[in-house]
Amino acid sequence: MNKTDKILIAGSAGMVGSAILRSLRSQGYTNIVGTFNRKVPEKLESVKYHRIDLLDLHACTSLFTEENPDYVFYAAAIVGGISANNTLRAQFLYENLQIQNNVIHTAYLSQVKKLLYLGSSCIYPKNAPQPIKEEHLLTGPLEYTNEPYAIAKIAGLKMCENYNLQYGTKYISAMPTNLYGPNDNYDLQTSHVLPALIRKFHEARISGAAYVNIWGTGSPLREFMHVDDLAAAVVFLMENYEGTPFINIGWGRDISIKELAILIKEIVGFSGTLIFDHTKPDGTPKKLLDTTLLTELGFTPKIKLRPGIESTYSDFLKKYG
Ligand SMILES: NC(=O)c1ccc[n+]([C@@H]2O[C@H](COP(=O)([O-])OP(=O)(O)OC[C@H]3O[C@@H](n4cnc5c(N)ncnc54)[C@H](OP(=O)(O)O)[C@@H]3O)[C@@H](O)[C@H]2O)c1
Repeated sequence: MNKTDKILIAGSAGMVGSAILRSLRSQGYTNIVGTFNRKVPEKLESVKYHRIDLLDLHACTSLFTEENPDYVFYAAAIVGGISANNTLRAQFLYENLQIQNNVIHTAYLSQVKKLLYLGSSCIYPKNAPQPIKEEHLLTGPLEYTNEPYAIAKIAGLKMCENYNLQYGTKYISAMPTNLYGPNDNYDLQTSHVLPALIRKFHEARISGAAYVNIWGTGSPLREFMHVDDLAAAVVFLMENYEGTPFINIGWGRDISIKELAILIKEIVGFSGTLIFDHTKPDGTPKKLLDTTLLTELGFTPKIKLRPGIESTYSDFLKKYG
């Protein structure tokens, strides 16, 4: 990838898309096109934005015809935590399939040099051996609460694989673990666990509440990676990796939800107690990615959990504090 090649980031106003944008700009890439839909991004020098609904194939075709990008980062999706995954089931399946079909197929028709597709660690079976290797895909039933989202993501990575096989495209796919960082979603109806805990502890501290309610038993083990590490990893893959096997992207260590809650409680400065709501689902008991392939390619993440959450909380305070 040359510094002046035209790079399209689909979903550049989202948490992941905006981190990829930061990473590319900091590495001297100067010809970047971003897309947004509802959330309007801040204007940045040397970045051109299109407002587009990627569900609309015609609009997607017009975008590629006008911009003719060399490289595409696919970071658009509707995403959410366990509650959103479990309740917006039809929407998560339909919209994720539709927007990725539109972008992946249009990128092929416009002969992009390379596309990087972002999936998720939700693609793996509920009871996959730990840590989870790429080869564990499709070896068992999925976690039912996020099955629609996972099926859309599996379809996306298989689409990339099969376009490479039939059409000779150079598509690569990355499967990140749970992410957090600037521009995360703090809406308690749709957010992931880490931003939801930041908001709950922050509001409890401000209101002087005696306790905070937390979904589930606190026992599930999860891995968390700062989105700036993820962005550095996907830019690294775009620059250095070709091939059909998709690549796990993770931090390499997991933590229980209870331990995470205690860490965030300390960082936010809440002094009350935690109450775990056992009536709410826990989801998959453990999810840790095996990142041997990524490490062997030469990439290692840098941002540790405590400083990563501290800087994320500072970003939260700037926007909502
Ligand atoms: N967050 C995580 O923990 C995590 C973990 C693993 C993988 N990932 C993957 O990373 C990618 C990005 O996730 P994220 O966390 O950055 O989510 P996000 O912050 O919600 O960003 C997603 C972006 O996609 C855009 N989008 C959704 N529907 C669209 C549509 N119909 N047309 C145009 N744009 C649309 C959204 O725009 P509007 O909001 O303006 O509609 C938003 O900017 C996803 O593929 C996700 O699977 C995320």
